[in-house]
Amino acid sequence: MRIVEAARELSDLSYAVKQGGQKVALVPTMGALHEGHRSLIHMAQQHGEFVIVSIFVNRLQFNNEEDFETYPVTLEDDIAICRSSGVSALYMPSSKSMYPESFATSVEVSGLTARFEGASRPGHFSGVTTVVTKLLTASAPDIAIFGQKDFQQFAVLRKLVDDLDIPTEMMMAPTIREEDGLALSSRNVRLSAESRQLAVLISQGLFHSLSLFQSGIRDRQELIEAARQTCIGEIEIDYIAIVDPQTLESVSEAHVGDVLLFAGTIDGIRLIDNIIFCA
Ligand code: PAJ
Repeated sequence: MRIVEAARELSDLSYAVKQGGQKVALVPTMGALHEGHRSLIHMAQQHGEFVIVSIFVNRLQFNNEEDFETYPVTLEDDIAICRSSGVSALYMPSSKSMYPESFATSVEVSGLTARFEGASRPGHFSGVTTVVTKLLTASAPDIAIFGQKDFQQFAVLRKLVDDLDIPTEMMMAPTIREEDGLALSSRNVRLSAESRQLAVLISQGLFHSLSLFQSGIRDRQELIEAARQTCIGEIEIDYIAIVDPQTLESVSEAHVGDVLLFAGTIDGIRLIDNIIFCA
């Protein structure tokens, strides 16, 4: 596995690989890799011969300094996971090389970023879109893989790539969960034993709503209420919404393919999750 720190070196590598007829697939991450990230790597390997994983804890997308300071860093383990997963190249730029003091550019997607995570975390999405633009430019991948876990992030990045004519195919991988249903997240390690027990209510609420949908209920309020009731009193709910997967506009009646979005806080730790309504 090649470890690359400079954007220019990554560009040269990607160009050479593609000249050789191989497809390049990129998996962007902030490290602290878990089974969710591994599933993205696996999907990348199914669609491209040369898989690049990037690890960069992107300060720009943290709207909260403490969240950035306490974000888990497990670099040695991450490198071992990438190696044992058969990753072709690991891109680990330094903060200085990503954002030198003279850095003056910001990439913004309007509309889709206004609500939900965008409203609760001002500046978050411009940090994400700026860094992902840089990662896509440096690695020029044929395919880039992102998780459904961050559904709004995927919708925003798909719009970015479409609007800027970036020739990368965007793919979404399903959410990987703990056995009890909690969506894997690098931030889960911060949950106390008690909070960890409460956290399971989020996925229970989402799956309760899904089962109502599958029994024929389509009314938005009823479906949202099912998820809310499961969490009420235990989790500080930020939002629960049912949205169209492309526009992220709220729908009055849920259809197959619409998404139930959830964000809430337990003991100061913000968790997000979602499910896509299916038959
Ligand atoms: P990070 O939180 O490290 O997540 C990297 C990728 O893994 C994202 O596409 C995310 O949706 C996916 N992921 C996280 N948990 C998952 C799970 N339980 N199942 C499946 N996929 C999961 O998202 C980011 O980093 C950053 O915003 C980034 C895109 C790298 C830009 O800095």
